[in-house]
Formats: sequence, C-alpha cells, structure tokens
Amino acid sequence: MEIAVVGTGYVGLVTGVCLTEIGHYVTCIDIDEDKINLMREGISPIYEPGLSDLMKKNIDEGRLTFTSNHSEGFANKKVIYIAVGTPQTKEGKADLQYVEKVAADIGHHINNDVIVVTKSTVPVGTNEKVREIIRELVNGKFEVEIVSNPEFLREGSAVQDTFHGDRIVIGADSDKAASVLEEINRPFGIPIYKTDIRSAEMIKYASNAFLATKISFVNEISNLCEKLGANVEDVATGMGMDDRIGNKFLKAGIGYGGSCFPKDTSALVQIAGYVQHDFNLLKSVIEVNNDQRRLLVKKAKERFGNIEGKRVAVLGLAFKPNTDDMREAASITLCEELIQSGAEVVAYDPIAIPNAKKILPQSIQYADSVENALENADFAFIVTEWDEVKNTELDVYIKKMKTPVIFDGRNCYALEEAAKYAVEYHSVGRKTQFGI
Ligand code: UDX
Repeated sequence: MEIAVVGTGYVGLVTGVCLTEIGHYVTCIDIDEDKINLMREGISPIYEPGLSDLMKKNIDEGRLTFTSNHSEGFANKKVIYIAVGTPQTKEGKADLQYVEKVAADIGHHINNDVIVVTKSTVPVGTNEKVREIIRELVNGKFEVEIVSNPEFLREGSAVQDTFHGDRIVIGADSDKAASVLEEINRPFGIPIYKTDIRSAEMIKYASNAFLATKISFVNEISNLCEKLGANVEDVATGMGMDDRIGNKFLKAGIGYGGSCFPKDTSALVQIAGYVQHDFNLLKSVIEVNNDQRRLLVKKAKERFGNIEGKRVAVLGLAFKPNTDDMREAASITLCEELIQSGAEVVAYDPIAIPNAKKILPQSIQYADSVENALENADFAFIVTEWDEVKNTELDVYIKKMKTPVIFDGRNCYALEEAAKYAVEYHSVGRKTQFGI
C-alpha cells in the first residue's frame, strides 16, 4: 500500500520505517529540511537500536522516501498517518496545535480520497475534530475517513516492539476504513483489536495511566518496606506470581519519566476535568512520582545532614537506559536539588550528555566514564541502570571515591553482593544495616 507518515519523531519514523519492512511504500514527511536530508542518507536522527539498518535497507529497496513537501508527500496516497507530537502545555493539557496543523495540511494538499490514521496520543474526541477540519477544507471533493491507531512503543526497543507488540488497536467508525488498516497491519502478525474511535483514544491513555499507577504503587510499597524492614524486590516477586497482578512494571526506583507517562497522566487528569470528573487516584499517582524523584537527595540529606560542598557522582542521566532522551528524567530534579543544596555535581551518561547539557544547571561537570565521575566523590547517586553502571564492580567505588557511600536509585546491586565490600550502600525499598 502507498502510505504517507507526517512527523518523523520516535513514533512517526519508527512507524514509517517498520511499515516499509513489511512491504508497504512509505513517504515520511517532516518540516525540518536538515532532518529530511539526514534521513535520506539512511541516518536516523534519534537513537533507536536497529532503526538505521532498516532505514538503509528500505531506502535501497525503493520503499522508503522522505520529503518536506506536503503535496509531494500526499500525492496518490490512500492512507496518511499523523504522528506529530502532542506535548504538555503549562496547565498539563495535551497541546494539539501540531495535530491540527497536519489536519489542515491534509485538507489543503490531498488530491484523492484518504483514510487518515492518528498515531499521536490525543484526547478523546480529537479524531472527530481532525476529521471535521479536513472535511471542511476538502469541501466534499474527496471522501475522508479517520482511524485512531495508538502506538504502544517503548523508547530503546521501539523497532522490536513494533514487530512483537501485544496488540494493535484500530478505532474506526467505518468498516471499510477498519478493514484497510487491518490489511496494512496483518503482516506484523500481532493480534488486532477493533473498536470505536473514542474507545481507541481512551485505550492509549488508560494503558499508560495504569502502568504509571503500577510504578507509583510499588514505589509506595517500597517506602513502606524501608520503614517496616521488608524487601520490596521479594514483595514484588511474590505479588507478581499472581497472574492477575503480573510481574512486569513492579520495579521500585526513583519514579517514571520519559515522553509519555508524565505527559499522558497529566493529560488524563485534565480530560477527566472537562467532564467534571475528579480523577483522584491518578492525581495521587503523579504526586507519589514527584516525591519519588527526590528520594536520593532526601536520603543523602538524612545521612549527611548538610550536603553543601560535597562532591557527588551522578551515574546515568537519561530517563531510562538505552536512550539519550532526557525528557522528564529523574536526573533533572535530582541535579537541580543537589546544586541548590550547594553540592558539586559530576555526572556521567554513556549517550545522554549532549541532551543533558541543554537542560541541566550550567554548573554541572561531566565525566567521560563511570570511573572518572567517581573520582574523589563524597557520595554517588545511581540514577539510570545502564549496563555499564550495573556492571561496575563495587571495588571501583572503593578505589575511586573519597568515601564510598552509594545511593542506588535503581537497585542495581544485590544486597548480599554489596555486603561483601567496604561500601556504604543505600538502595530503594531494601533495608540495609545503614538504616536509610
Ligand atoms: C512508555 C510505555 O511503556 C509505552 O507503551 C508508551 O507507548 C510510551 O511510554 P517509554 O516511555 O519508552 O514507554 O518507557 P518505559 O520503558 O515504559 O519506562 C517508563 C519509565 O518507567 C522509565 O522512567 C522507567 O525507569 C520507569 N519504570 C518502568 C519503573 O520505574 N519501574 C518499572 O517497573 C518499569
């Protein structure tokens, strides 16, 4: 099938490229000329394992093209995907200006009937609005159908997730449009769930809100475990053996970050507000997460009293491993609080430093390895569980640091392992002899 994808961020580019891999002909459209030129060379502007290889292969085989020109991109396409960002406004709402702009571009530039597929995460009712904008502009000249097809990709494993996802959700009001989407997606071999447009829009928000709830729930349990002398990892394992609960997304830590959970939970609280529904549960999930991000600074202050003048090694900056994405990363809150408290911060991340430099306080120093970050530090924060961080022998902390005091926000080391070394090891939800 001939398809156009508008927006080449994580969602758009991964979607477009993976659609070519299953045999479709895709033109990816973006307004950023520099990005388009880069992508034409098969270079991915985002760090996503496996993506560049698939781009090169499908460009060479003639299925994948790029353009910044909408009329050229839309020409003869029966299906157009919208995959632009819906960032969070100051009030926590989903900002729909980019989606609406694409709808207008479609309305102005198409020259045949189209099915418009929304991949972007949009509040319930938005697809109908998009359809209205386009229909008004084409003024009866062409038939316009709309389909909600939310994505469930995780950064860092987006390509893998596209080929091995749990389900593909297709929300449509017309059987014809739903069948076309089914046909496009069939080669993925993933179960397809068809529903109406509004329910599909809601599935995306409800899924992300539920996963965020699981994380905040286990983080609250971990805070209790610390106070009551239980071990959150054992508790999560025991809970997860119940099929109704499941063992995924029960890893305690310093909270969720990234481009989706924080934004989508806030947006759902707002969406509920529009229909006079107070989503108290979700508000608490957000509040627990905001507190959890501060956990390591709280622990360090309990341990040292005053941390002014202390040299702190921050290991990992990205919101999770295998990505350079700094959006809503716990490291932002932690670094800001450390600097405000007068600490000297030396940070290390394998790939996120260029992005971190754009948003973290100016006074932060950056190291080029875990070892160099630890050099002469009074204490260390483990913020992102990169393999490189997890595999650092505890001996290295002893050799490099002034005092080997570790606050591990991701429970990278087994307690028995830490107990073998002369380090002061604090973690999350697992009480040690050090008490915090
Ligand atoms: C998420 C959803 O998983 C995906 O379906 C959706 O499309 C986009 O949002 P992503 O943001 O890439 O994907 O990251 P994910 O791997 O889900 O992790 C999100 C955050 O939760 C990370 O900060 C991670 O550290 C944290 N997390 C995850 C936990 O703290 N504990 C867990 O058990 C799982």
